[in-house]
Amino acid sequence: MSEAFFEVEGLNTWFFTRMGIFKSVRDVSFDLRRGEVLGIVGESGSGKSVTGMSIMGQVEEPGRTVSGSIRLDGEELTSLSFEDMRRCRGRRIAMVFQNPLMTLNPLMRIRDQMYEAISEHESVSEDEMHQRCLDALRAVGIPSPEERLTAYPHELSGGMRQRVVIATALLLNPDLIIADEPTTALDVTIQAQIIHQMRRQIDERGLGMIWITHDLATLSELADRILVMYAGAMMETGTTAEIIGSPRHPYTSKLLESVPSRNVPGEKLRQIRGTMPSLLSLGAGCPFMGRCEHATDACARGVPERMFSQTHRVWCHHPLEV
Ligand SMILES: Nc1ncnc2c1ncn2[C@@H]1O[C@H](COP(=O)(O)OP(=O)(O)O)[C@@H](O)[C@H]1O
Ligand SMILES: [Mg+2]
Repeated sequence: MSEAFFEVEGLNTWFFTRMGIFKSVRDVSFDLRRGEVLGIVGESGSGKSVTGMSIMGQVEEPGRTVSGSIRLDGEELTSLSFEDMRRCRGRRIAMVFQNPLMTLNPLMRIRDQMYEAISEHESVSEDEMHQRCLDALRAVGIPSPEERLTAYPHELSGGMRQRVVIATALLLNPDLIIADEPTTALDVTIQAQIIHQMRRQIDERGLGMIWITHDLATLSELADRILVMYAGAMMETGTTAEIIGSPRHPYTSKLLESVPSRNVPGEKLRQIRGTMPSLLSLGAGCPFMGRCEHATDACARGVPERMFSQTHRVWCHHPLEV
């Protein structure tokens, strides 16, 4: 297996509010190889988006990345100047959000927005920009791309808009794409099509991708490895087969149980009992202990890291037997 080109180590991002310090990302580490998709999964509020924004260097006030290292091809991103980081965003790292309307300007034709994305980083002829846009739109399965280029965002369906955003992210051939719940708002069939096209682009272009979702089911077809987060911390990480086939953390197992089976129509999403603890008052213990059937007194005192394979690691006193 090739070397990791992207590494996050000991990332901590906190929000300094009047109520106190919300420790949204606590000691998160992972790496990524080219052609690989890492899925980051967890319930709402577990720190997934803040992890993505930390990598982009775009955590908003009153938040700050207080420690940690983020390296792309060995280059430390946390010490880049504002201007260098701006150049890095878009060209080397692109981000796709859940709501395409956050990225698309409603008053501009698709073509002009895509041209702008290119010309912000490179100077190329209009002919070449045109060709690149068509290629990118085709790559994500957009039919009649010529016509879409002259459309305004509101003239496209939600699924088409999200494809346009993904195509725009691909325009500059980045090394890494961070996609934050990009298909959550779309129906299951469209989700599956986009996921299929993304997988192909990743394989063909050899780029790395971080796919953030609260839905483990979307990862089974797409991700090579999965990181399970809870209350800002890593709970378990492993290959997709390890996480979905033999989860060791009680939290991962609960997450899997809450995935509705696609072949039972009308089945409701089962919620995990209890709620996440406040990020203001987290101690050294396991953040999941209050909701965990296996918890003992030991869980209040630190969390040991257990290795089950070269790739499979769990932070838990009482990992499940398989
Ligand atoms: N702008 C903010 N100000 C204060 N706290 C924030 C802000 N953004 C995020 N947080 C805190 O970080 C936590 C994790 O947020 P987030 O990464 O968005 O969760 P996820 O994407 O996993 O649903 C939130 O529950 C909240 O406590
Ligand atoms: Mg989020």
